[in-house]
Amino acid sequence: MTMYRTVRGMRDFLPADLAKRRFVEEKVRECFNLYGYDEVETPILESFDLISAKAGDEIRHRMYSFKDLGGRMVALRPEITPSIARVVANKLRTEVKPLKLGYIANCFRYDNPQMGRYREFWQAGFELFGSSHPVADAEVLAANNALMRRLGFTDFSIKIGHVAILRDVFTEESMTEADQNRLMEFMDKREQTKVFRLLSNLQVSDGCQTTMKELFTLRGTDWKRLLGKGRRILQHKEGALVALDHLEAIIGFARSLGVETEFFLDLGFARGLEYYTGMIFEVYVPGLDIALGGGGRYDRLVELFGGEPIPAVGCAPGIDRIALALEKKGLFPEQLTHVEKVLVIAIQEDLLPTALELASDLRKQGVAAHNEVTGRSLGSALSYADKKNYRYAVIVGSAELEKECVILRDLKAETQREVPITHLFTEIGQS
Ligand code: HAM
Repeated sequence: MTMYRTVRGMRDFLPADLAKRRFVEEKVRECFNLYGYDEVETPILESFDLISAKAGDEIRHRMYSFKDLGGRMVALRPEITPSIARVVANKLRTEVKPLKLGYIANCFRYDNPQMGRYREFWQAGFELFGSSHPVADAEVLAANNALMRRLGFTDFSIKIGHVAILRDVFTEESMTEADQNRLMEFMDKREQTKVFRLLSNLQVSDGCQTTMKELFTLRGTDWKRLLGKGRRILQHKEGALVALDHLEAIIGFARSLGVETEFFLDLGFARGLEYYTGMIFEVYVPGLDIALGGGGRYDRLVELFGGEPIPAVGCAPGIDRIALALEKKGLFPEQLTHVEKVLVIAIQEDLLPTALELASDLRKQGVAAHNEVTGRSLGSALSYADKKNYRYAVIVGSAELEKECVILRDLKAETQREVPITHLFTEIGQS
């Protein structure tokens, strides 16, 4: 007989694991409400072209893609932003702006399975369409920040940068978009040696090499001073200077929105996805060298998918990594589900109909009352109830029934008493 396992990189979520994910999802939905994001769902399967258009080489090569029986090239989504941009370009083009859409969904990437890196993982998302104002960027940062706080994180930081600075430096060298993207991919992976090797191969000016070297040193929490230094280094680059002003405005608005979290400015920071046009960011907690979430501004994606030009900014907190960090830091509440369960047990077979009716009545009143369904002895049924964290057992016996009573056993307090059936619901509610 073959013992089947999950496919490598895939995971089963048993009740305890799923409860953790649901806890995170609940907090995400609280933030959707607080910040005005309407939740949407899009298909797991998308056209390969849509997903790969601006995915960047890294993700493009790690997609689960195949031809369906109709000969269409399709892919399991590695992220959700292109799907949301597709929806905005097609179905929501006439909707009033700004438009805020949220999602919680699974994604697939053929990554190397390791801690915090899975082939199926869950992302939450906040996507805001219809504003190019820095306050929109700040609001996305604030929503992400609020999520982290509501989850219980107090110690985390937001790494922030701006791709327009890099694009401006590269465009001045008349570099093709493909070469710019390759450079940014190396930067995303923090492979500086490869960045400078490629810059040499592309025969960029000495000035460009120097600017890049200097940009790589501009990183730290002292963002005001670093922005000042950046302005000196980039003094003749108009686009880059506007980007620096934007970053300053975004951080300022984020502070006004109550984001007290540390900002780690990094002007040599890039992200692998190719659709970003402005501010980019990632969220980190100390002791975990993987981003818990990331995002940024992408002003041209809707247009690329055939819609009106609509500026956009968003982010995707990674649910699995957040759960991992909560676990590591002991931040999950002790009891993730606190439904008080009641097990109704008939002592003899002929009392079963009464026990079934009793449980059914309790359920109608909203009590999680379950029946003992194996016909085993009272002792085994009680020990099961104990192991499964039942709060009460209702024991239906003939002696008590004659007085229209049952025994209510409090499994936590380890006490029991006789209770009239008519009072059962109130007794359970009161304890
Ligand atoms: P991303 O940085 O590729 O951005 O992914 C966002 C988050 O998803 C990561 O920070 C991480 O927490 C989680 N994640 C990514 N890959 C894996 C994996 N293999 N295993 C576990 N977790 C993973 C995006 O996907 C963009 N769509 C974010 C965005 C939204 N930008 C604008 N709007």
